[in-house]
Amino acid sequence: MSDTDWQAKLLAPTDPVEVMKQKAALRALEQVKSGMKLGLGTGSTARYFVDGLGAKVAHGLQVICVPTSEATRAQAESLNIPLAELGDLQRLDLTVDGADEMDAHLRLVKGGGGALLREKIVAAASNAMIVIADDSKLVDNLGAFALPVEVNMFAHQATAQAIADVLHQTGNAGDITLRGGADAFVTDGGHYIYDCDLGRVNNIEQLASALLNVPGVVEHGLFLGYATAAVLAGSDGLQEVGKL
Ligand code: A5P
Repeated sequence: MSDTDWQAKLLAPTDPVEVMKQKAALRALEQVKSGMKLGLGTGSTARYFVDGLGAKVAHGLQVICVPTSEATRAQAESLNIPLAELGDLQRLDLTVDGADEMDAHLRLVKGGGGALLREKIVAAASNAMIVIADDSKLVDNLGAFALPVEVNMFAHQATAQAIADVLHQTGNAGDITLRGGADAFVTDGGHYIYDCDLGRVNNIEQLASALLNVPGVVEHGLFLGYATAAVLAGSDGLQEVGKL
């Protein structure tokens, strides 16, 4: 398959940041080989990856994929990308996904798009995870982007109070806001999200564990130890972190 064959029908963004995001996605796509089992991320950058993957599948690439959201499932189905249940595939070779923030140690904040639970389940089942993003997502310290925490709807205000206690106990502080407010956002899993505006995340590992110990917390957006590499696109080209 020649490059021009499969690239002919790709999304064609004009906004410079969107163009960079697509370049990062297409660089990650170079790592996909026929026969792979893939996790498909969620968000505006992952969308370019799925778009490119669909184009390659139309030209004969053979993969089987697990989407991390209903939005990604719909996009993948529209492109005739073969999908399967994670339980049937068990391990995946590679997941490619975006991030809201990433530090130099490949630690991530995710969930800005609300798909953090499925994204983490799929990332955890993957032998490798490539993050694709524009380089504004690379930060010295995580936390300028509010940390999403997905919670069960039952007694969610009480869960939010318990989250506030955990933040305090782990040396963190900041406003905790129900995403969507009176018209609360509901995740694919039927849960709410509280966004924790910490400014800077302190004691990351401790916070990640403590949040999961709160009854009512389903998952949080700290992805520690999942990403194995990243492709970050800037105006001066692509930067790779870790080994693709
Ligand atoms: C979805 O829940 C998020 O984790 C996304 O992966 C993240 O928000 C990145 O999205 P963009 O690529 O749109 O910035």
